[in-house]
Amino acid sequence: MTRPSPSSPRRLDGRAKVTGQARYAADLADDAANAEEKRTAHAAVVQSTRASGRILAIDTAAACAMPGVLLVMTHLDAPRLKPIQTLPGGELGRFLPLQDIHLHYNGQPLAVVVADTREQARYAASKVQVRYGPAEREPLFALDEAHAERPEKVGAGEPGVTERGDPDAAFAQAAERLDESYETVPQHHNALEPGAAVAAWDAEGRLTVHTATQYSYGDAYALGQAFDLGLRKPFAEVMKSGEAESGLDGKVRLIVPFTGGAFGGKKGNLHPLLAAMAARRAGRPVSLELTRRQTFSLMPFRGGTRQRIRLGGNADGRLSVLMQDALIQNSTLSNFIEPVGEMTPKLYACEHLRTSHRAVEMDINAPSWMRAPGVAVSQFAIESAMDEWAHRLGLDPLELRLRNYAEVEPQGGQPWSSKSLSECYRLAAERIGWNARARGIGAMRENGRCIGYGMATAVYHVAQMPASARVRLNADGTAVAASSTHEIGQGGATALTQIAAEALGLPLERVTLEWGDTRLPYSSLTAGSSTTLSLGAAIGAAADQLRQQLAERAVKDAASPLHGLPAESLRLHDGALQAGDGRREKVSELLRRQGLDGLEAQASTASQIGKPVFGRGAFGAQFARVAVEPLTGEIRVQRLVGAFACGRLINPLLARSQLMGGMVWGLGQALFEQSRLDPRNGRWMNADLAEALVATQADVPDIEVLTIEEDDRRGHPLGVKGLGEIGVVGVAAAIANAVFHATGKRIRSLPLSPDNLLDATFMPRAER
Ligand code: MOS
Repeated sequence: MTRPSPSSPRRLDGRAKVTGQARYAADLADDAANAEEKRTAHAAVVQSTRASGRILAIDTAAACAMPGVLLVMTHLDAPRLKPIQTLPGGELGRFLPLQDIHLHYNGQPLAVVVADTREQARYAASKVQVRYGPAEREPLFALDEAHAERPEKVGAGEPGVTERGDPDAAFAQAAERLDESYETVPQHHNALEPGAAVAAWDAEGRLTVHTATQYSYGDAYALGQAFDLGLRKPFAEVMKSGEAESGLDGKVRLIVPFTGGAFGGKKGNLHPLLAAMAARRAGRPVSLELTRRQTFSLMPFRGGTRQRIRLGGNADGRLSVLMQDALIQNSTLSNFIEPVGEMTPKLYACEHLRTSHRAVEMDINAPSWMRAPGVAVSQFAIESAMDEWAHRLGLDPLELRLRNYAEVEPQGGQPWSSKSLSECYRLAAERIGWNARARGIGAMRENGRCIGYGMATAVYHVAQMPASARVRLNADGTAVAASSTHEIGQGGATALTQIAAEALGLPLERVTLEWGDTRLPYSSLTAGSSTTLSLGAAIGAAADQLRQQLAERAVKDAASPLHGLPAESLRLHDGALQAGDGRREKVSELLRRQGLDGLEAQASTASQIGKPVFGRGAFGAQFARVAVEPLTGEIRVQRLVGAFACGRLINPLLARSQLMGGMVWGLGQALFEQSRLDPRNGRWMNADLAEALVATQADVPDIEVLTIEEDDRRGHPLGVKGLGEIGVVGVAAAIANAVFHATGKRIRSLPLSPDNLLDATFMPRAER
C-alpha cells in the first residue's frame, strides 16, 4: 500500500490556481489581438428552439442596430466550410454549423452575434428572431428500440460485437441463469470552465486559437480542414505516427493554457470553429465564451444506455457465459458510439461471451466520450448483475468474483503484464469491514436506518498512444521538456515534469515543462487515462537520446574524466554523467568545455506501440457502506473504500487525488446525475448547475483510497498504466448493491433516487 510521501511533490500549478494567477482560454482574449493591434471582439451564439424542420428566415435587423454590434453571422453569410475528419467524437464529422437551413437538434447554433463586449453580444443575440418551417418527420427524443441500428465499430474503433465460444448454446444449457436489464441516464461533463475560444487570423491567413481542449493537434487539424488551409498530412497519419512534426506548418496554431476540467467533453467542439468563422467575418480577433446553459447543447454529453445482461453457469457461481447487449442513446449527428462492452471480455474467466451494441440516432446534439467511456456504465450493469447472481446462489459477492477471477487475459489468453486485483479485493474488503457485516438482507440497522454493504470490480484499459517530446539540458544546470500536451486539472504537468527530472537526473526544481501549444512537438490527446504513460514514454525516450549524445561526446573528449569509457555504460544522475565505477562529469562542465550552451533531443514513440504480448488492464475494487432512511428513501453513502492497482505511481499524492475524484463522480452517478430531455421538444431541461445535481461536499463521505503499486515494466517502459478514469468505475454498482443489502430492494436504473427506491415497499409495514 502506497501513501503520499515526500516523493509526491505537490502540484506545480497549485499555487497559481489557488491564488487566481492561472489563466484560462477566455482570460487570454487580449493576448489574441493580432499584429495590427485590433481589439478583440466578443461573440454570442443564437441557438435553435426547435429540434427539427428548417429555417425559413432569420431577422437580424434589431440585433444589428444595437450598440456595439459589429455583425450577425448566419447560414447566409458564414464562411463555407470543408468536411472535417479527425477523431470519432462530437459532431464535427457529420455537422458543420451555419452552412444550411436544416435543423438537427434543439440548441443548434443558428447565428453568431459579434460585438465590442460580451454583454452587448449576448443581449443582441437575444433579439435575433428565427422563423421555422415544418419538419418532414416526427423528431425522435426517446431511446426507442424500434429505431436501433447495429454499428460495426464503437468507441475509437472497437468492434461492435465481440464473441468467444458459443454463448447462446452455453446460456441455453446453463444450470443457473440470470437475465436482467439495467439502465443508465444521460450525464453532462459540466467541467468548471465552460467552453471558450479566442480566434485570430493574421494578414497571411494564418489562424491562431486560444482554447481549452484535451487535444490541441486534433482541434488544430479540424480547423485546418474546415478552412481548407492546406495541411500536408492526413490526420490519421499524424495520429498514428505521433511524429513531432505534424504538418501544421504554422497555418493553424492552438494555444491551450490551463484547461479547467474536461472529462472527455473538450475536444472536437463547435465553439472554436464558430469563433474562427466569426473572426474571419469580423476581421478582428473574436472571443466566444459559452454560457453554462449553452454547454449542455453546444458541447457533448454521455448518452443513456439500456443493457441486457445474461449470466449462465453452475450453482457454485462459476460463470460459463456472459452476454451484454447494450442499447445506446445517440444522435443523428454523432460519429461516436459509447464503447459499452470494451472491457467486458477481459473481466472474468468465462468460456463463452458476447458483447453487442445497438445505437438509436435521436434528434439531439451529439454525445461523446465521458470519463471512463463505456466501462462507467457497463460496470454498473455487470456488477449489479454479479451481485444478483451471488445473492441468488447464496454466495458472498466477493467470493463470487474470486471464483471467476481471470488469471490470464480471458479473451486473448495472454498472461497479464501485471494484475493485482485479488490484493485490491482483499485490502479494500478488510478496510471497510466486509467480513464483519451481517450477511442477511436488511439485517443491519443503526439509528432507525437500514445499513448495507456492497462491492464491485473496477477495470480500465491501458492505452499508450504515439506521442513525441523534446528535452533540452542547459549548461546552467537546468532543463526543459516540451510537448503540446494539456493540463486539464489532472496533475499531468506535475507528473510529466517529475518523469523528465528523473530521466535527466536532475532535481525537480531544475526542470520546466512546456505544454499547450501546437508549436511544440506533437502530443496525443489527454484522454483515456493515457497522458502519463504516452507522454512519459516520449519524454523518457527523448531523455535517453540526449543521454546518448552527451555520453558520446564525453567518451571522445580527452579532457573528460569519462574519456574512453563505453558510452552505453553512462547514466544521467545528479546533474552529471556517471559511470558504474563512480567516475563522473557534471553535464554543465561537459557542455561548457564543448562550447555549447545546451543540447537537445527529440523522440516519438510510435515504434514502442506494437501488438501486445501481454494482456493489459488496470483494476480495482470498490466497496460502499450505505444508510437508507426507510420513511423517505434517502440514501446516504457513509463510506467508500477503493483499492486500485494501476502500475507504477509517478506521484502517489496526485494519483490518490485523481482516484478519489473519480470515486466522488461515481457517487454522483449513483445518486444524482441525470440530464433530462424534454420529451416534447428535445431540450435539455436541467441545463444549469442549480438543477443538474452532482455530488457536493455534504454528500461525500469518508473516502479511503488505497493503491497497490505494480511493477508493470512488461507493459510499459516506465511501468505506468494510467489512472485518470478507473476511480469512477464500479462505484455506482457498489452503492446499488449496498442499497440492496440494506433494504432488499434492487434498483436497476440510475440514479438511485428516493422516488426510485420508494417505488416498491422495501420494509415490512410494521417497521416503517
Ligand atoms: Mo476521457 S472521457 O477519455 O477524456
